[in-house]
Order: sequence, then structure tokens, then C-alpha cells
Amino acid sequence: MSAPGSGQAAATTTVPMLDLQAQYRPIRDAVIDAVTRVCDSQRFIMGPEVDGMEREMAAYLGVAHAVGVSSGTDALLLAMMALGIGPGDEVVTSTYSFFATAGCVARLGATPVFVDIDPVTYNIDPAAAAAAVTPRTRAIMPVHLFGQSADLDPLLDVATRAGVPLIEDAAQAFGATYKGRMVGGLGRVGCFSFFPSKNLGAFGDGGLVVTNDDTLAASLRRMRVHGADRQYYHQVIGGNFRLDALQAAVLRVKLPHLAGWTEARRRNAARYDGLFGDFGLTGHVTLPVTVADRYHIFNQYVVRVPKRDAVKALLESRQVGCAIYYPVPFHEQACFAYLGYRTGQFPRAEAAARETLALPIYGELAAEQQHHVVTVLADALSRTA
Ligand SMILES: Cc1ncc(COP(=O)(O)O)c(C=O)c1O
Repeated sequence: MSAPGSGQAAATTTVPMLDLQAQYRPIRDAVIDAVTRVCDSQRFIMGPEVDGMEREMAAYLGVAHAVGVSSGTDALLLAMMALGIGPGDEVVTSTYSFFATAGCVARLGATPVFVDIDPVTYNIDPAAAAAAVTPRTRAIMPVHLFGQSADLDPLLDVATRAGVPLIEDAAQAFGATYKGRMVGGLGRVGCFSFFPSKNLGAFGDGGLVVTNDDTLAASLRRMRVHGADRQYYHQVIGGNFRLDALQAAVLRVKLPHLAGWTEARRRNAARYDGLFGDFGLTGHVTLPVTVADRYHIFNQYVVRVPKRDAVKALLESRQVGCAIYYPVPFHEQACFAYLGYRTGQFPRAEAAARETLALPIYGELAAEQQHHVVTVLADALSRTA
């Protein structure tokens, strides 16, 4: 665990987990122009900015329909409402994700059915998903965790055999591909988040639902505005899932930069991989694995380390940002105790929750900062060994 190329990183270096200022600086003028355009129009809810954003995102993602919504959480909720999921229904999903994935199922009165993960990619294990299907299953919902697609072909088979839709929780994976095709449009419906820390982040909350199904798209659009095709005439009960014009305008400025930002994230991931090798750490740290047929957009760069919590504390004490995604799998969450799962039931997710640590990976991260992160991590590992 030596530190090659030492001297590059001063002891005072700090590395934040995310530096949104660095992304903002070069696009500031364009963002201010876009925000000014909205202010001058005084049209804040939906309108031409949202329409334009939806067209541009549909083209980018290669889908027929893109529906801008108020958040990634609302994207999931709206998608499941439009599919008619409700009490008595089961939705098969991973036990290891951000809370919204399972929370939205339960909010609709349906039952989330948890399954374990593939320990290499942290995504839902297709064989476990197949085994969890019952006559009450109404959807299969993989999550493309950390920016890498779940193994969609076998999951689509599971959904087809069960006669239910596949919902992609693509909140962390805008621009990721599976066998050359963008995620989001590969199942019946795909859901994205524009939370500011995501790889494509708005200046507040925002989300997107995409589909190639015309009928479902019409439902999504209707339910986004309280189930009304015409104002004050409600065919069905929906909600307020509208996207602000200001968010759409900002996202339209950012979208043309996304491919370049993603390449920068991938370069940084490759640089970390190289540094861990140079430092002789590959026996101590488990690096992220990109599966051959997938384009990983590295929304997060997640490693496994022994004594993770102690290592994290040491990194933070030296101003090196890091984060745990996620410390508690769904089946161990207090709010899901009523589902009757027990600790030990999904050992691969439980191990991931204990061992994983996300390191800074944003595109503007400098090579020296990455060197510093690995130097400090090497030191933390030797102190905690
Ligand atoms: C996997 C996953 N699903 C859903 C969401 C919810 O998105 P939002 O925070 O925009 O509501 C997130 C965002 O954190 C997420 O990571």
C-alpha cells in the first residue's frame, strides 16, 4: 500500500464528493440566458420549455414519448399509477436501492417483493426475480444502480412469462446503455431523476417518464395533471406531477453537454482503476465492474472496502468526500417490518450495505484530486488493517 507519484497532492487538499460549481461555471451564461427567457415569458408551469425538453430528451433516449415530471420519485409513482398498480398487487424489485423505489410501491397500497442482488453489479439478480413471481405479481422493477444497466434480457423474459410490464428505475442511469440501447426505453416504462446530484441534474427537483407505448403515454400525461385531458374535467384520479419550466430550461442547456460529462466520468473511473493498481490496493479494495455489453455512466463509483465505516470516518477527517449508498437494504428498514422479512435473507445486499463506499467521480475531478483520494484511502486501509 505505498503511494506512487507522491508529492502530487498536498496534505491540505480537500476533495468534495461532488462539485456542482465546477460544472456550472462553463455553462453559467447559457443557464442565465435560459432562466431569463423563462422569467421574461412569465410561464412557469409546463409550457414550451417543458415541451421542448421532452422532445429533446425523447430524441436523446431514442423513445417515442418523454413526459417531464416533478421528481424521480413522482416518475415512479406516476408510472405505477398509470399502469394501474394498487392494493393486492405485488411488484418485484431489488432490496438494495434508494428508498423511492420501494416506497412508491407501498404508497399505492401494493406490496414490494424484495429480492437479492448480483454481488458484482449490485443490480437485481434475474434468477431471484424469477423465483419471486407469484400470481399476484403486477410488475418487475429493476433499478440501474450507480449508472450501470441491470441485466435486462433475462428480466424482460421474467416479465413476459409473468405477463406483466417491466418498469425501469433508471433514476441513476440517464445515458447508460444495455447491448447498445439506451436504458429507460427497454421496458414498458422508464423513470429518471434530475435531482441536482444526479449525472444530469436540474436546479431543484425534476424527473422524467419515458415509454414507447402510445396509450400509456396518454395516461401518463393525463395523470400528471390530476387525470384531466381538459382542465376541470377529470377522467381519472391523478396528481400534481408537473415539471417547472425553469427546470426544463436548465436541463435543455445541460443535455447537449451530457455525453462529454459522461465520458469524463468514465475516464475518471478508469483512472481510479489504474491508481488502485498502482498503489497495490486491488487485493484490499473491490473495484466496480463494467459488464461487457453495458455502457456504465458512473453516476457513482462504488468500491468495497474492509472496515468500511472506520475507513469512511478517516477519509472524512481528511476532507475527502465519500458516501454510503445505501446502509440499510429495504428488507431491514423499520417501515417495511410489516412485510415480515428477516436479516440474513438477502446476504448479498446485506454485505453490499456493510462494505460499499462511493468515491468522488464527477467529471471535473482533477487527476491530482483522484491521486489524493487513493493516497488517503490507502492510508486509511493500512490504519484499519
Ligand atoms: C434509484 C433511485 N430511484 C428513485 C429516485 C428518486 O428520485 P428523486 O430524488 O428525484 O425523487 C432516486 C434518486 O435519488 C434513485 O436513486
